[in-house]
Amino acid sequence: MANGILKGKKGIIFGALNDKSIAWQVAQKAHAEGATFVLTNAPIAMRMGEINKLAAECNNAQIIACDVSKDEDMQNLIQKSMEILGGKVDFILHSVGMSLNIRKGRTYTDLDYKWMHETFDISSMSFHRLLQTCYKMDAVNDWGSVLALTYIASQRVFPDYSEMADAKSLLESITRSFGYHYGKKNKVRINTISQSPTMTTAGSGVKGFGDFYDYANALSPLGNASAEQCADYCISMFSDYTKMVTMQNLFHDGGFSFTGFSADVFKLLEKKQGE
Ligand SMILES: NC(=O)c1ccc[n+]([C@@H]2O[C@H](COP(=O)([O-])OP(=O)(O)OC[C@H]3O[C@@H](n4cnc5c(N)ncnc54)[C@H](O)[C@@H]3O)[C@@H](O)[C@H]2O)c1
Repeated sequence: MANGILKGKKGIIFGALNDKSIAWQVAQKAHAEGATFVLTNAPIAMRMGEINKLAAECNNAQIIACDVSKDEDMQNLIQKSMEILGGKVDFILHSVGMSLNIRKGRTYTDLDYKWMHETFDISSMSFHRLLQTCYKMDAVNDWGSVLALTYIASQRVFPDYSEMADAKSLLESITRSFGYHYGKKNKVRINTISQSPTMTTAGSGVKGFGDFYDYANALSPLGNASAEQCADYCISMFSDYTKMVTMQNLFHDGGFSFTGFSADVFKLLEKKQGE
């Protein structure tokens, strides 16, 4: 399906952990569409070595380690990316999320605040850190496109999504606020994509994720959107075809967010009760 819609564009892609990752699919498609980019992930994620396979597939893309909660890592990443790519970038994907409390099994009514701080730092403030670093270093070309990934629990209650719901609300707010400032300065557009539940390492870490996934699939008229389909949407948002879209939270969820009822949900519940 590649049409070269990112030909000549340069970017940075955060968060490709393994071939299930949404960022992994975005990197493959961005490469197919003619983009060149730097790949980045947390130093600890690099140790698994999977990202090297992706880099090799993508014309030997350079990999730079960056813990998104560290200012110095972010500055180093942006500086080095511009050196490697020979100038400013046109697109950035922030595909990063992590909840310490979820990982350690703490419920929403029993959160550890040190961990909560870390969750916000990694999952939300990192987006501000990325944007502010780029803004100060003048690292994004005019009309560039920056995307982060979010989930509808930022706006409606999904109890087991816990503190990540609050982290995603903050992420979406930063998108609007920074979208204004960067739009004024360089016409840089900043959006979040609110994706269906997706079977990835981060996704399946949420308690009851399988039920979550099946429920959304049954409610959504189009079913759940896959990681690959999410990547297609990201590519269109990086392209010149979406130049006037900014400060938005864009649902990519097969219609889940606006569906009140579907008989398929009842069928699913009956099936689950019979199991
Ligand atoms: N999977 C889903 O159901 C779903 C749904 C909606 C939105 N999202 C969002 O999509 C994004 C990508 O997640 P995914 O589902 O592809 O899972 P994933 O586990 O493949 O990706 C999450 C990435 O975050 C990285 N990360 C964690 N801590 C970091 C740090 N300190 N510094 C740098 N990177 C760090 C991980 O190494 C990993 O690559 C996340 O923002 C997630 O919340 C996922």
